Amino acid sequence: MEDTTQKPHKEAKKLVLQRPKGTQDIVGEDTYRWSTVETLCRTMFQQARFQEIRTPIFESTELFERGVGEGTDIVSKEMYTFQKSDRSLTLRPEGTAGVVRSFVEQGMSRWPKPVKLFYIGPMFRYERPQAGRQRQFHQIGVELFGPESAAADAEVILLAWRLFEKLQLPGLTLEVNNIGTPECRERFKAGLRERVEPYLAELCSDCQIRFNTNPLRMLDCKVPICKTIYARPEIIEFLESDFGNDESQKHFADLLDILTSLEIPYKRNFSLVRGLDYYTKTVFEITATHLGAQNAVCGGGRYDRLMSDLGGPATPAVGWALGQERLMALVGELPKPELDFYIVTDVHTAAFPLAEKLRALGAIVEVDLSFQNFGKQLERAHRFNAANTLVLGSDEASADSVQLRNVTTKEQEHLSAEAFDQYAQRYMSQKKIN
Ligand code: HAM
Repeated sequence: MEDTTQKPHKEAKKLVLQRPKGTQDIVGEDTYRWSTVETLCRTMFQQARFQEIRTPIFESTELFERGVGEGTDIVSKEMYTFQKSDRSLTLRPEGTAGVVRSFVEQGMSRWPKPVKLFYIGPMFRYERPQAGRQRQFHQIGVELFGPESAAADAEVILLAWRLFEKLQLPGLTLEVNNIGTPECRERFKAGLRERVEPYLAELCSDCQIRFNTNPLRMLDCKVPICKTIYARPEIIEFLESDFGNDESQKHFADLLDILTSLEIPYKRNFSLVRGLDYYTKTVFEITATHLGAQNAVCGGGRYDRLMSDLGGPATPAVGWALGQERLMALVGELPKPELDFYIVTDVHTAAFPLAEKLRALGAIVEVDLSFQNFGKQLERAHRFNAANTLVLGSDEASADSVQLRNVTTKEQEHLSAEAFDQYAQRYMSQKKIN
C-alpha cells in the first residue's frame, strides 16, 4: 500500500562550510605555537604570583556600557549584543570589566592584597576585519588590584616587557603617558577644547561629536586631517605642559624612575589616551614596527575608579592585555615537537605497554593502529619523521625483544627488552641535553 503520510521531501539547502568573517581557525602547527607561548606566559605570571581567572564569555551589556564607557567605539559600535528572556547580554569585547565584576562578586577585597590575576581567552568586537584586526581575537591579560603606587604600574609593565624580551619580539616601543585623575582631566578637556575649537569645522564627523562628548578621544583619531590638526604646535605645547595635578605628576615621575632604573626603554607619547574610558593616571602601549597599521601588541593602564564606579569597594588597579594574534605574528621559530618513537606493530597487547613505558620517560610515541603490512607502516613512520622506528611483531613479542630500524638507511638491530630500555634512556637523556 502506498504511504500517504510522508510529505514531499524538500531538498535541504546546501550548508556553506565557511567560518564567519573576522574569525580564524587555529590549527596544526599554529596550535602548538600558541600553546607554547601560553605556557611561557603562565610560567612567568605564576612566578610573579598572578593567579588565573576564567570569567564568562558573555556578561550583562550594562557592565560594558558602564565599565568601558558609552562614548567609546567599543560600546557604541562594536559589541555583539543579544537579548535572552528580557536580559541584554554581550560577548565580552575585553577582559577587564568582567574581572572587576568577578572581583566584587567573589569578595576578592577580602583576599590578601595585592590581588594579582591573569586571563587568556577570546574577545569579540564587531570591527572591520583587516590584517591584525579580527572580530574574534584572543587576549592574554593581567590585572593587579590593591596598591596605589607607581611600583604596581612598573610591576605589570616589567612583566610584559620581559615576556616580549624572552620571546625575542623585534622592533618594540613602549609608549607611556599620564592622563591624570578625573578631576584634573576636566581642566584638561576645557583647555583642549579651547585650542581645537578654531579647527572644529575641519575635523572628521566623529571628532566633531567627540569634541562635545569626550574630547580626549579626539587624540586617538586616525583620520589624517584630524591627526594634522592635533599635531599643531599650540596643541602639542598644551599636551606637553602635563595637565596632571601634583599627585598624578608625582605618580608618573615615580613610574618613569623605576622604568629607567630597570633599563626598560620608553617613549613619552603625549597623545596616547587609549580607547577605553576607565583609565586614570598611567596609560601605556607596546607597539611593533613589523605589524603594519594595527601595530599595538599590548595596551593597558591604571584604572583606580572602575571598581567603585561599578558599585564595588574602592580599589586601585592597573593591568594590560596583549593581542595574541598580533603577538604570534611577531614570534619567530619555536622548537617543534619531535616524534621520538614510532611503533610498527600488529601486536597491540605488547605495543601499548611499550609506548606507556617510553611516554613515562617523557618521549612522544605513536603506535600504528592500521594493521596494514609492515612496509606501509614503515612508510608512515618515515612520513611522520620519527626519530626512532620500532618493529614489534609477533616474533619480537614472543622473544621479549624489539627491532630498532633506521628508516633512511634501512639498517635494523634486534634488541632485547633490557638492551632497548638502556637505549631509550640514553636517547631521552641525550635529547634533554640538546
Ligand atoms: P585594548 O587596547 O582594547 O585594551 O586591547 C588590548 C590589545 O588587544 C590590543 O593592544 C591589541 O593587541 C588586541 N586587540 C584589540 N582589538 C583587537 C582586534 N579587533 N583584533 C585583534 N587584536 C585586537 C583592552 O582590552 C584593555 N582591557 C586592556 C587592559 C587590561 N587595561 C587594563 N587592564
